[in-house]
Amino acid sequence: MANFVIRGGKRLQGSVSISGSKNAALPLIAAAVLTRKPCVLEDIPSLTDIDNMISIAQELGVSIKTQQDHIRIFANKLTSAAATYEHMGKLRASILFASVLLSTMGRATIAIPGGCILGPRPTDLHELVFRRMGAVIRVRHGQYELTAKKLKGACIDFPHVSVGATQQALLAAACAEGTTILSNASIEPETMQLVDFLRAAGVDIGVENRTMKISGVSRLSGVRMRVIPDRIEAGTFLLLAGMLQGNDIRIQNVNPEHLATPIKIAHALGIRTEIKQNVMRAYRDRALTGQHIMAKPYPGFPTDLQPIVAAALARAAGKSVVKDTVFSERFAYINELNRLGAGITVKGDAAHIPGGASLSGANVTATDLRAGAALVLAASAAENTTMISGIEHIQRGYMMFDAKLKKLGMDITCRSQSQ
Ligand code: EPZ
Repeated sequence: MANFVIRGGKRLQGSVSISGSKNAALPLIAAAVLTRKPCVLEDIPSLTDIDNMISIAQELGVSIKTQQDHIRIFANKLTSAAATYEHMGKLRASILFASVLLSTMGRATIAIPGGCILGPRPTDLHELVFRRMGAVIRVRHGQYELTAKKLKGACIDFPHVSVGATQQALLAAACAEGTTILSNASIEPETMQLVDFLRAAGVDIGVENRTMKISGVSRLSGVRMRVIPDRIEAGTFLLLAGMLQGNDIRIQNVNPEHLATPIKIAHALGIRTEIKQNVMRAYRDRALTGQHIMAKPYPGFPTDLQPIVAAALARAAGKSVVKDTVFSERFAYINELNRLGAGITVKGDAAHIPGGASLSGANVTATDLRAGAALVLAASAAENTTMISGIEHIQRGYMMFDAKLKKLGMDITCRSQSQ
């Protein structure tokens, strides 16, 4: 176990390069297995969530070779249809192997997945996909036992937008008999990259607003694809630029289109940007002002930046209110931000941020991945020293975070607990 020790107050200046997106890479690994053909994924971030996804695939008999930031996946010989709790318990996206195994082997035994604790995380919409597409579901001993001779196309109208359930349905529909129509589907850039991958593998997929039409095929081709830049990592550095007057960060390998709403909100807060192609300069030369922000499915403000924007708003002049329509209880980070002096209260489904906080260092714990990033931002602007434990959560989703922050001038050290 290790901690981050951060001495706040240092102006952050320089360049940072954004890694490939974790949340785009994870479904692509599942899709590459589904093809049963050689596939190459480029710009795969080196993260524990990716390592766990790879371990599950290897447990199923998939050959995976890693070369720097490329992985070569060849699933010509699947030897098992069972993914055990050991790795499944660690990440949510592992549930995507359910459709892959149903399509390729006609059965799947999948431990009910884990992942960040963001309030309730049901799997009923995944079950809706399995059931509608003809699978028989049994839940025993904490795992799904699924069987389907052949998945069948279906019309699925999601009651609300789910990234994971949409991706599950896309993977199931790719090789299903007939046509599948999804309504109220996720159109997050990570889902759209899965659509691009499946199209490149030979699946005909039409997308109009939130409706997708997928015509199943009997064989897929291998695909080589570069993972999109991580918009949440880029948004984290954008908001980090707002933490102290004088911060000036050049963020490289950004897709500004994917960040349109966070950029708009950052401007409203008082963070300035200059964008040239895939490079964004983000800097702060004036005070921040409070905002009302509501996290929503894409193209709305992302829930994964909700704790992080709250850290920036703690420093803003004037009150702010933050709501999250995706994970309405994603506020576990607030107790920890309050230890640093943020003074936030949660009333009903909203976090009320008084603003103008002069943050001061303390010992805090990262309760999940983005909560951890929010604490790092707050610590960068806090007086004295902050020690953040639970950084294994941060390492699930931010590649070389401390090295990138150090390069910008942050006084951050990663210490093992025995030090
Ligand atoms: C994905 O999780 C991301 N994870 C999350 O990122 C992200 O916060 C989330 O989408 C929302 O954008 C990956 O891509 C690996 P959902 P996912 O299904 O797919 C409810 C991060 O920090 N729901 O879109 O699990 C659910 O409770 C992570 O990188 C059901 O009700 O999220 C939530 O309220 C954490 N039933 C809403 O839908 C279901 O069967 C959206 O969740 C599934 C979800």
